[in-house]
Amino acid sequence: MPCHSNEELKRLVSEAKKYTKHGEVADYIPALKKANRDDLSVAIYHSDGNCYSAGDIDQKITLQSISKVLTLALALIDCGEECVFDKVGYEPTGDPFNSIIKLETSRSAKPLNPMINAGALAVTHLIKGNSVIERLERIIAFIRDLAGHETITYSEEIAKSEFDTAFLNRSLCYYMKQDGIINENVEELLELYTKQCAIEMDCLDLSRIGLVFAMDGLDPVREKQIIPVEVARLCKTFMVTCGMYNASGEFAVRVGIPAKSGVSGGIMGSIRNRYGIGIFGPALDERGNSIGGIKLLEMMSKKYELSIF
Ligand code: DON
Repeated sequence: MPCHSNEELKRLVSEAKKYTKHGEVADYIPALKKANRDDLSVAIYHSDGNCYSAGDIDQKITLQSISKVLTLALALIDCGEECVFDKVGYEPTGDPFNSIIKLETSRSAKPLNPMINAGALAVTHLIKGNSVIERLERIIAFIRDLAGHETITYSEEIAKSEFDTAFLNRSLCYYMKQDGIINENVEELLELYTKQCAIEMDCLDLSRIGLVFAMDGLDPVREKQIIPVEVARLCKTFMVTCGMYNASGEFAVRVGIPAKSGVSGGIMGSIRNRYGIGIFGPALDERGNSIGGIKLLEMMSKKYELSIF
């Protein structure tokens, strides 16, 4: 479906773009360095099937941490709440997304929540399938279904770039393996996780997935319940409490939208029963969130009264 370009959104995007010069593109995954710091685009998918956009919405982005919400949903569908929360907790950390400190200082290496890297690795560990390929295919098929887009796939280049340099994530895995949180081969888990993070789509796809969460798991376009209601709600709760990492509290105050960010500069937002939002702005603030994207959401939240609080 073509997305209608919208003048009001264009104005908000050009206002928010002023902030991108204060951010930096992620460079700890070498392939992400190629992104253009000044890019900023947004798509809003309405529950009536209409879509509005501003900026270069054909640009592809990798999901990175946004994928953590999607694998959480799939793991909950695969093995249920008890099984998932045997491996990860419910609480925000206040630490950076890739921090190892709580794994070492708490009694067991159970990650505090599924949105930090350690927690997401423990969740990906639970995705069912007989091989890495089969598990990856299941994740991709699920995401294609959520976006209503059959050709979504992952970027080999970005997956490899992360796999070759993911020393910190490897360390998180070994801590968790020592304590029995995970029990598979760490290189295999990392292969699956880095490919999951490298799944690519445009803002329109991202906004459509945001809409499915906004509608408690229902794709209103195809009238198809893709995620059980209670799973979609649980995922949105984590988006509120941990979706923007150690900036989640400030984001709740200033914006008040269930949202999830990724270091590629993507943000997915869900406004209950109304819209899904997909944003791409690769300039990041010091906590790893899109600086222009957050500003844009702040302006949109005020203008359209989107805060849930
Ligand atoms: O595991 C990593 O470090 C990346 N693949 C994803 C991290 C991420 O997106 C954090 N986001 N703000």
